Amino acid sequence: MNGRPDARARRLESLAREHGTPLWVTDGDLVRARLAELRTAFRGLLHEVHYAVKANSGLALLALLAAEGVGFDVVSAGELERCRRVGVDPRRIGFAGAGKTDAELAAALAAGIGLFDVESPAELDRLARLAAERGAVAPYALRLNPDVEAGTHEYVTTGTRRNKFGMPFDAALAALERHRSTAALRFRGFHVHIGSQVTDPARFAAAAAIVAQRIVATRAAGFAVELLDFGGGFAARYDVAPPPIAAVAAAVRPLLEPLHVELLLEPGRFLVAEAGELVTRVIGVKEGQERHFVIVDAAMNDLLRPALYGAWHPVELLAGEEAGRPTVSCDIVGPVCESGDFLAKERLLPRPAPGDLLVIGSAGAYGTSMSSNYNSRPRAAEVLIDRGVARLVRRRETIDDLLATELLPPA
Ligand SMILES: Cc1ncc(COP(=O)(O)O)c(C=O)c1O
Repeated sequence: MNGRPDARARRLESLAREHGTPLWVTDGDLVRARLAELRTAFRGLLHEVHYAVKANSGLALLALLAAEGVGFDVVSAGELERCRRVGVDPRRIGFAGAGKTDAELAAALAAGIGLFDVESPAELDRLARLAAERGAVAPYALRLNPDVEAGTHEYVTTGTRRNKFGMPFDAALAALERHRSTAALRFRGFHVHIGSQVTDPARFAAAAAIVAQRIVATRAAGFAVELLDFGGGFAARYDVAPPPIAAVAAAVRPLLEPLHVELLLEPGRFLVAEAGELVTRVIGVKEGQERHFVIVDAAMNDLLRPALYGAWHPVELLAGEEAGRPTVSCDIVGPVCESGDFLAKERLLPRPAPGDLLVIGSAGAYGTSMSSNYNSRPRAAEVLIDRGVARLVRRRETIDDLLATELLPPA
């Protein structure tokens, strides 16, 4: 892989020259391919895909997915507005999230979204009040906490009793009873999401088995359950390939099919992770006392995942003249003033030199959407390559952009 002088490498080099680095490059065709794979795997079972906007909330990507007939899962008024800006039908938007404010719930009610994924009995009470005040009827699902281990990083495990998400079934049933005749609410079903980058299909099956049993019990208590939002969490490829999505579908199909519910899936990472690359230029190299540091112009403010989760991303040297270079073990680090500012550690690469380009792969999910301005670094530009055409879809921030919101008290 490293340094191969193919068409892709030439294109990335030319984009880096044209737009500067660090530069995000997103492959729209790969996003479409993943979507097709998901739909094929769940054929006959799937009602709708609600892309989890948090994974990569770029407007151009949202527009691409909307054109493919996808709905959206949002977790803030900001994500809701992103969907509105690209003309998404509000009925195809679900609103999840553990801490929705009254203002956010009101904005979602005003927009007429299709589903509120309610995280607690208290949130349901607030939703009922806010909907009644507006003469609206809020369609909702109750998010269950199934207490299932997802077998993933602790920070992205969301379905255990340790986590802040969802509610136990008893609490959900009590809330349902309390609002049995609340005219401003329309119960549609349940929501469950056990975590992200879940690589073992059996974990999804464990969640499906619990939710199936809860749906049967809820129907027995006299409530119609027409919908199950089964969340996301389907794994993408970083260091090793996870089992195919068809294996996840096969694991849950026998449990979900007999329920005859509208099944929603909320993938984020699965659709976009592998479609995104971060192209970065080597600023300098430095022999540390123990490590060979390659200092690049991208940093933890661009791609936080290595610092936040110890995440592993593939790294490729995009150099035409690597012949004869010795292979060295490199730590790829950024300019930010933190020892946690690394993109990769102990990678064997043909010795990178100042000016070389490196490509950080599988960076399309939780990359741009987690970028920050830490160390007062402007956020990077982004190019979307779609149906062969490369377009700038996010201009590089300027220092003036960074300072635009700040106010100096009078001297
Ligand atoms: C409620 C909900 N749905 C979907 C997702 C998407 O997860 P992933 O990107 O792993 O598919 C998340 C991620 O945290 C989430 O919290």
